[in-house]
Amino acid sequence: MSTENKSPKTVVNSWNEWDPLKHVIVGRADGTMVQAPEPSTERDWPEHGFPLGTYGPLPREMEAKANEQLDNFANLLEARGIRVDRPAPLDFSQTVQTPDWEQKSMFGCMPPRDLLLTVGNEIIEATMSQRSRWFEYLCYRPLLEQYFKEDPFFRWEAAPKPRLTDETYKADYWRQWEKKSPEEKEKAIYAHDWILTEKEPCFDAADIGRAGKDLFVYHSSVTNRAGIDWLRRHFSNHRIHSIWFYEAHGFHIDATFVLLRPGLALSNRKRKPLTPHMLDFFKKNDWEVVECAKPALDDYPPLSFCSPWLSMNTLVLDPKTICVDAQEIEQMEQFDKLGFEVVPVEFADVSPFGGGLHCATADVYREGTCEDYFPHQIEGF
Ligand code: ARG
Repeated sequence: MSTENKSPKTVVNSWNEWDPLKHVIVGRADGTMVQAPEPSTERDWPEHGFPLGTYGPLPREMEAKANEQLDNFANLLEARGIRVDRPAPLDFSQTVQTPDWEQKSMFGCMPPRDLLLTVGNEIIEATMSQRSRWFEYLCYRPLLEQYFKEDPFFRWEAAPKPRLTDETYKADYWRQWEKKSPEEKEKAIYAHDWILTEKEPCFDAADIGRAGKDLFVYHSSVTNRAGIDWLRRHFSNHRIHSIWFYEAHGFHIDATFVLLRPGLALSNRKRKPLTPHMLDFFKKNDWEVVECAKPALDDYPPLSFCSPWLSMNTLVLDPKTICVDAQEIEQMEQFDKLGFEVVPVEFADVSPFGGGLHCATADVYREGTCEDYFPHQIEGF
């Protein structure tokens, strides 16, 4: 047998959010839609041409700007020696259907993080919980097929596709929500009274923060308890911590609670953790949890469902290097003080397409192994 070191073309492996990044998927803005209404989502942006009930592609000029920033970001990563792959967009304006429902549009493929969850040598296609995003996995199939051929150790998984019938959603949820008083809304936040029922497991991959043996899962508007239970049974060698925050209809952990490097996490200034013992747990394991800096924006940008807290939505290239949206001056200063080399990336125009630098990427390969960063567990957390 030859002793020559034949390294495979592709290695799928990533255990956390910070080990040195070697291979990543960066999304594309092509054809992204303001989604047609569906039980989980109703866009209502009359001042920008999309009043309630309407849908259609985001304006061409916006798409071109977003794609330019995504391409520049991909080039920047490649210049640092990181392999970058891109998804294959579909015609997202088409009507899609299953035996259970018909949906007038899809969404897009800008945020691969929402769909692909990499844990070690495994990539899971998340269930997703919106009908417009049910078929989004197809955009990543050319890449996943390729990785499957090139890496003999790659474990390719797909979580059970949910039916997403009307039983998956609480009936008339949004109308009821609008009628609630501020006190009732507050009560709903504490009760995790979000739109999903517990009929079937649902989760988006972006609701999971990875720290080796410990996985933190946001019980959010797009991830239900059954989804977290599915993850717990699937990753039986991991510790799954279900967490939630002070935010109505929050989703995706990466603009709310961000794991930066061993011993350091970034917490949203406004969306406080509500899970009992969560902060004690970090403290007990000598993790520092710092509050994020003030974001650059005061409000949601036009046609975007992403908040100003995308300021926290960063991509760590290795434990000393972090990519940050270039408009986030105060956040960059904070990272600088925390000892990071900050790489500013122009990214403000990508927000309407579904997120920031973390959303726009999905890990394929980071060096490193599965470590235990939380040796001291807390009963009930
Ligand atoms: N819900 C987040 C916010 O607006 C946006 C998170 C986007 N993250 C993502 N992976 N697409 O604060």
